[in-house]
Amino acid sequence: MKFKRYTITAALPYANGPKHIGHLAGAYLPADVYVRYLRSKREDVIYVCGSDEHGTAIANQAIKENTTPQSIIDKYHILMKENFDKLGISFDIYHRTSSTLHHQTAQDFFTVLFNNGTLVKETTEQYFDERAQQFLADRYIIGICPNCSHDSAYGDQCEKCGKSLSPTDLINPKSTLTGEKPVLKRTKNWFLPMDKLQPKIEAYIESHKDWKVNVYGQCKSWLNQGLQPRAMTRDINWGVKVPLHDAEGKVLYVWFDAPIGYISATKQWAIDNKKDWEPYWKDKETRLVHFLAKDNIVFHCITFPLMLMQHGEFILPDNVSGNEFMNLEGDKMSTSRKWSIEMHEYNRDFPDKQDALRYCLLSILPETKDSEFTWKDFQARNNNELVAILGNFVNRTLVLTHNYYKGVVPSADTYIKEDLHLLEEIAKFPDRIATSLDQFRFREALSELMNLARLGNKYLADNEPWKLIKTDENRVLTIMNISLQICANLSILMEPFIPFTAKKLADMLNVSGKFWNDATRTDLLTNGHKIREASLLFKKIEDDVIAIQLQKLEVVKKMIEASTPTTIEPAKANIRFDDFAKTDIRVGTILEAERVPKTDKLLKLKIDTGIDQRTVVSGIAAYYKPEDIIGKKVSILVNLAPRNIKGIESQGMILMAENSKGELSFVAPDKDVMNDGSGVR
Ligand code: 2FM
Ligand code: ZN
Repeated sequence: MKFKRYTITAALPYANGPKHIGHLAGAYLPADVYVRYLRSKREDVIYVCGSDEHGTAIANQAIKENTTPQSIIDKYHILMKENFDKLGISFDIYHRTSSTLHHQTAQDFFTVLFNNGTLVKETTEQYFDERAQQFLADRYIIGICPNCSHDSAYGDQCEKCGKSLSPTDLINPKSTLTGEKPVLKRTKNWFLPMDKLQPKIEAYIESHKDWKVNVYGQCKSWLNQGLQPRAMTRDINWGVKVPLHDAEGKVLYVWFDAPIGYISATKQWAIDNKKDWEPYWKDKETRLVHFLAKDNIVFHCITFPLMLMQHGEFILPDNVSGNEFMNLEGDKMSTSRKWSIEMHEYNRDFPDKQDALRYCLLSILPETKDSEFTWKDFQARNNNELVAILGNFVNRTLVLTHNYYKGVVPSADTYIKEDLHLLEEIAKFPDRIATSLDQFRFREALSELMNLARLGNKYLADNEPWKLIKTDENRVLTIMNISLQICANLSILMEPFIPFTAKKLADMLNVSGKFWNDATRTDLLTNGHKIREASLLFKKIEDDVIAIQLQKLEVVKKMIEASTPTTIEPAKANIRFDDFAKTDIRVGTILEAERVPKTDKLLKLKIDTGIDQRTVVSGIAAYYKPEDIIGKKVSILVNLAPRNIKGIESQGMILMAENSKGELSFVAPDKDVMNDGSGVR
């Protein structure tokens, strides 16, 4: 289908810290390439983004930096905006969700869903930190992921496996505010009944089998698990106020307001540019495409489309281009662990190499699976591809043009068969690259671009004009004309990928105002056109520069290895010996172990205590496989009153050591104690 206009979004990054090159590769860079390509095709397109300035991610960072959420968002909004800009990310607007326009837009949206009966008010039990006197939503709480056992999954999502969670799903939950174990407390919130709306979203996802397999696959997997109602409001004080009279002290869920940020950003862009925002969100001939990384897929493919459907006035995303993650030198990139290359650090260390980074990241984009950035690979791609292929071809062509013709484009004399064949080939590249870009296959598109440069390089190497100039000047006229035309085509086709270089090349060629479809022409530079002075498009990156970056990572690695747990619980209040003496703890042996059906955490154990054999249900399934623990010695509290857990009578409790990450380990004697009822004193 031919669209009339395009609304392209890239996930609004949380303004809670600097963003790294993995973020860049996940969303902002591929979206930028796509948008630049559409602009070059002279499509009507807007690229909207901005800082996500609400939610517990911001409030948590304010606590960490001992400052206010407002100063956090002001600081990081500016840092992100500046560094996206330096890397050539060409947003039409980089907005903020703290703006009044956004608050109003999000509240209006909520009011529509409230008035039309979509949102359901419900009182539920939510975790509460008694010390902080605060409900623990989303990132105010961490615990073990019930899906992948990651030890610090957030209350809204596990960043490791991407599963969307509720705080009550977490194993061993802890407040990130105080480290305390939370208690449950009743509170009312407004829910999006995703369970009831599942058929609607299912039909929508089914109509988009054309989406990338990783995106479509994730959606199917959530739908198969069955959607759950999700609260769209929170009991915290940082965010967009819930626009209802009985919602004092409550704000909109950050994942409710953030995607509406795309709409409010468009509104602001329209105000700034004296345009109408509505067609970009309401006209069915507009193509809405979201770019994001895999941890955001569920919100853009399921939650936000459901919100848009229930609102009723908006178009739905036509495609959601979700990428996997990019690792760094063998480990997951993470700002908090400092195992990352932050955009501002890269810009500081490589102030004139933005295209080298764009090129490298696009070559290894995690389009279908996680990928890996290494400094050596970055160096090799710069030196062996950008410098040796693209830069070399362009430089040889321009230098020879200056040497032979004082910078004036020579007219082709006679095309021989090989020339005609080459010209035909060149004309195919715009469509070939476009086909890849239309399907969000950026790596493939980039490699086609490089094939064009390779073709040019080979043409020069095969024809050797530097030798022919002595014997056949006329032939050289044609060779140089064709080579210059390839350079001109390259300057157009490389623009989406490496825009700084494209501009430099266009300036050297002394051309401007050319668009994608012009690149099919092989007469872009007319006879007699004068080019400007030539300079190198790319410079080699030397080993010592890479060594410095690797050393920095070495230091970080040592710090990570040496880092000790930071939250140590203070000692509890003193008790009397009599209190302790009431406990009867024995050394037992595990005789049998099996998973408790339909639970992620529980194992059913049969224990020989020396006095008897008994059944105990224990929440250790995330740490021990049943088959690995038969015969193991454990300490068991035998005089705990029996409890019914998932229909099984648990006759005692296994003692476990728990570290700061909530990981569990048996507490057992270090000598082989017989099964004779040995006690623990
Ligand atoms: O994961 C994140 O960084 C979120 N702030 C993304 C929000 S995308 C959108 F919905 F705004
Ligand atoms: Zn997980």
